[in-house]
Amino acid sequence: MSQYGKITCTGKYIPKKQVTNDALSQFMDTSDEWINSRTGIRSRHVVTDENTSDLCTKAALNLLEKSKLTPETIDFIIVATITPDYQMPSVACQVQAGIKAINAFAFDISAACSGFVYALSIGEKMIRSGYNKGIIIGGETLSKTLDWDDRSTAVLFGDGAAGVVLEANETQHILAESLHSDGSRGGSLTSGFIQNNSPFYEKKEEQSNWLEMNGRAIFDFAMSDVAKDIREVLDKSEHDVDYFLLHQANIRMIDKMARKLKLPREKFLTSMEKYGNTSAASIPILLDEAVEAGTLTLGTQQRVMLTGFGGGLTWGTMLLTL
Ligand code: ACO
Repeated sequence: MSQYGKITCTGKYIPKKQVTNDALSQFMDTSDEWINSRTGIRSRHVVTDENTSDLCTKAALNLLEKSKLTPETIDFIIVATITPDYQMPSVACQVQAGIKAINAFAFDISAACSGFVYALSIGEKMIRSGYNKGIIIGGETLSKTLDWDDRSTAVLFGDGAAGVVLEANETQHILAESLHSDGSRGGSLTSGFIQNNSPFYEKKEEQSNWLEMNGRAIFDFAMSDVAKDIREVLDKSEHDVDYFLLHQANIRMIDKMARKLKLPREKFLTSMEKYGNTSAASIPILLDEAVEAGTLTLGTQQRVMLTGFGGGLTWGTMLLTL
């Protein structure tokens, strides 16, 4: 008999330190008015003594506590992140050790702000191939990639981790998905350049390893490619969508996306006000917030669309029933 993946639990971990726009304006030439009017962000959380693996492990422990699953029943762990503690071991292997999921295989994927949608897609295929239980997490400490002297990027991002338990069941819950990449436009959003320092390498010009972006190009990319993708998935599907959970980069993007697609704005959930842009963590944080608030309830067949977009460039849309 065929089996499919179903989200059976959501969870998260947000680092304690909250940094408001006013707090940023104490040491940066910015203001709550500038940040809030252009982005919808009012505050973000930033790690003080934790790294991505700590956030993801605590999110995974939250998932185990809520789902009442024991760690040894987990078959796989996938973490979507662009801010791992190390290149190796992966964050997912650190989570596996931290929660004692001794029977799980674990790996990270790198697809920036589309990472959670990509990881959920991979996880669902794992379930279809016979595994029974997986943990999928998006987790980031973007604060360590930012040039804190650059007000044009430092105000936009935040840290956090969130995820889901994916379990086998007989009903297909992911109704449609559409994943894309365009590496030729990757220069619009970069971070974490790793310098080659071998004695044989001929050094070229210095390259920054801070997060850098062309904000206008990213905005235009979202309004063209991402909007087109959402429209195509909607048109191909016979289903109405109850809620849209888009990557939380900027409220003006969400407002414009709703207008462009001629969809009711109230169907678009947001949480960037509290958390800023948390890249791969933004969609699962939003999902868990909506479940905690009672807007979404697992097991009710509500239909939600998850859409990630960002560095790579990457983008992806998934239509699923809860
Ligand atoms: N506080 C005060 N002033 C600022 C700040 C700040 N934090 N940042 C920039 N400014 C100034 C600039 O120096 C500039 O001043 P100038 O005109 O004197 O040179 C002015 O504000 C306008 O700067 P722009 O960069 O043109 O600001 P814009 O209005 O385009 O807003 C923003 C920037 C919000 C990032 C916009 O480009 C945008 O919405 N981009 C969408 C992409 C996005 O949000 N990306 C996030 C990450 S990507 C992702 O997750 C997929």
